[in-house]
Amino acid sequence: MKILGIETSCDETATAIVEDGTKILANVVASSKELHAKTGGIIPETAAREQLKAIIPSVQTALKEASLSPEELDAIAVTSGPGLFGSLIIGVETAKALSFAWKKPLVPINHLVGHIYANWLENPTPPTFPNLTLVVSGGHSELILAKDHGNFEWLGGTRDDAAGEAFDKTARVSGLTYPGGPAIQNAAKRVTKLANFLPRPMHDSTDFDFSFSGLKTAVVNLVGEKKLNLEQVSQYAAEIQEAIVDSLLIKTLKAAKKYDVKELLLAGGVAANLRLVEKSKEKFAGIVHAPNPRLCVDNGAMIASAAFFNYKPILWENINADSGLFF
Ligand code: KG4
Ligand code: ZN
Repeated sequence: MKILGIETSCDETATAIVEDGTKILANVVASSKELHAKTGGIIPETAAREQLKAIIPSVQTALKEASLSPEELDAIAVTSGPGLFGSLIIGVETAKALSFAWKKPLVPINHLVGHIYANWLENPTPPTFPNLTLVVSGGHSELILAKDHGNFEWLGGTRDDAAGEAFDKTARVSGLTYPGGPAIQNAAKRVTKLANFLPRPMHDSTDFDFSFSGLKTAVVNLVGEKKLNLEQVSQYAAEIQEAIVDSLLIKTLKAAKKYDVKELLLAGGVAANLRLVEKSKEKFAGIVHAPNPRLCVDNGAMIASAAFFNYKPILWENINADSGLFF
């Protein structure tokens, strides 16, 4: 089954074609990140306008890359939420129009479920059930227990900032560019010794929730108006990275123990973080799955894969004025 996956929830216009949920035939990603780097964060209006420019060329490129015609597709999958409204609407309306014109089933996919399925792409030993996923992105930090495809139980999540947001905001305070995650990872490479002076918020609470606003405040208070030199920026980067990774892993390991899972899946943009992957493998006794970094960040392949394993097309007679965007 060949599915076209469309993902436009934030600042990436991503289109991919995936066969049977695992084999990537095309993967096209256009990003407006460079524009957002200038403003130090995402301006939703700018992101939506860039989506509009990129979406049709992106679909055309994916079909060309896979050497397929629209008739050879079996379905169209699209991220239906959560995300920035102005960005989402471009992908959803494009998918609806293509589905109508090409007479193909339309499968709406939750963005977070999409991130989880990046673990089935290009993975010679795909995950088995039950498993636990840590979904960590710019907008989310969630722990999800899966008993089967589509059988997800939410165990906990962030009470304030997401892990990616914590990377982005603390990077900005420390003088690094957007997106903060890759910038912090890069700057942290130079550091050989950690002082561990930053807090690990909520490390001793009994739930599976996270909190990152206290960490952000701690960095703001410590850096203040100071202009950090290169060495200090690197030290802060390494300390921030370690504090975020520790905060995530403390709760993840607690949940894995409670639910007795033997497989841990990392997902979302922050799963591209090499220290998170390394420390997860070090601390978790079972199998750790971590997608290739290019599949951790937003992409259409994960949406197409999720649609294959959770195939619930929308019926055209159910798309009416009231159902609107169906998210
Ligand atoms: O999943 P994603 O592409 O978009 C959302 O759904 O939000 O995640 C973007 C987030 C950003 O906050 C970015 O700083 C973070 O993922 N990120 C990383 C790394 N690469 C991307 N965080 C830490 N280390 C990385 N290498
Ligand atoms: Zn995402």
